[in-house]
Amino acid sequence: MASPVTEAEVVRVRVAGKVNLSLRSGRRRPDGYHSLSTVFQAVSLYDEVDASWAPPGRFSVQVVGEQADQVPTGDDNLAVRAARLLARTWGAGKPLGADLVIRKSIPVAGGMAGGSADAAGALLACAVLWDLDISPDELRTLGARLGADVPFCLAGGTALGRGRGDELTSVLSRGTYHWVLAFSDGELSTPAVFARFDELGLGSDHLDVPDGLLNALVSGDVQALGRSLVNDLEPAALALRPQLSHLLEAGDDLGAVASMVSGSGPTVAFLAANEPAAVDLSVRLSSEGLCRAVKRVSGPVPGARLLV
Ligand code: C5P
Repeated sequence: MASPVTEAEVVRVRVAGKVNLSLRSGRRRPDGYHSLSTVFQAVSLYDEVDASWAPPGRFSVQVVGEQADQVPTGDDNLAVRAARLLARTWGAGKPLGADLVIRKSIPVAGGMAGGSADAAGALLACAVLWDLDISPDELRTLGARLGADVPFCLAGGTALGRGRGDELTSVLSRGTYHWVLAFSDGELSTPAVFARFDELGLGSDHLDVPDGLLNALVSGDVQALGRSLVNDLEPAALALRPQLSHLLEAGDDLGAVASMVSGSGPTVAFLAANEPAAVDLSVRLSSEGLCRAVKRVSGPVPGARLLV
């Protein structure tokens, strides 16, 4: 870890959101989770988490930026839980505390792991703030206790997630992919989407990564990647939010290589052939008025990284 941080200093971590290039889900398990095979790609939409010294036992969070009013700021905030967990398990009995500030750009409950990203950012920021002797692997193991996507938010890049999505293997990926994201008003709760997935009887025993997806990534072939994208949760998200189908159709009509719901939604991700095509698609999509906001991003990008 970095050298100790003085009490006046702030540790700032930048952490990316994700899209799932493939998300295959089994049925609900006795522990409430679903076994997944999912290929994550971290994309250039970032939250920032600042951590600074607080009196022992004080763990506070302030949230600023897009949709900040929709993020809880009490002890149930995932970043606060992350800081507390880290202090309890790795603080060696030291009297620790932290004041956190989260600057949000990743949509809240939008299917891009925004909450998990903030937890990942808080883990790294506090580990540096408190000068803890914890390795990246140990941080990821701890992160999995907070949420299935937290280990990937720490790692970033492109990775295959198995188990609950938290058992990661990195995936070789060549080149940069250009995405247009369409953010919708309102949230979709991940548990609610999985519950609808169960009601629709969509769980499969075969959680294979689609043929061609890994090859497409190795060769950097955007068209082949577009043909391989799959999201088993998409029918459940569409059942809860039928108007998303208009967005998916608009993307197809406006020349996206592929259109899909991101994770549990409601964010919709459009894969573009290249950067100029993404610029063109984002302009045209904005003028359709089908969503709250449109943003261009690219991936893969690194996971949680120290800024200052
Ligand atoms: O792990 P995390 O708290 O982010 O997951 C949120 C919810 O999403 C879980 O409580 C569960 O309902 C659902 N989930 C699931 N199977 C997974 C990951 C998440 O059912 N593999």
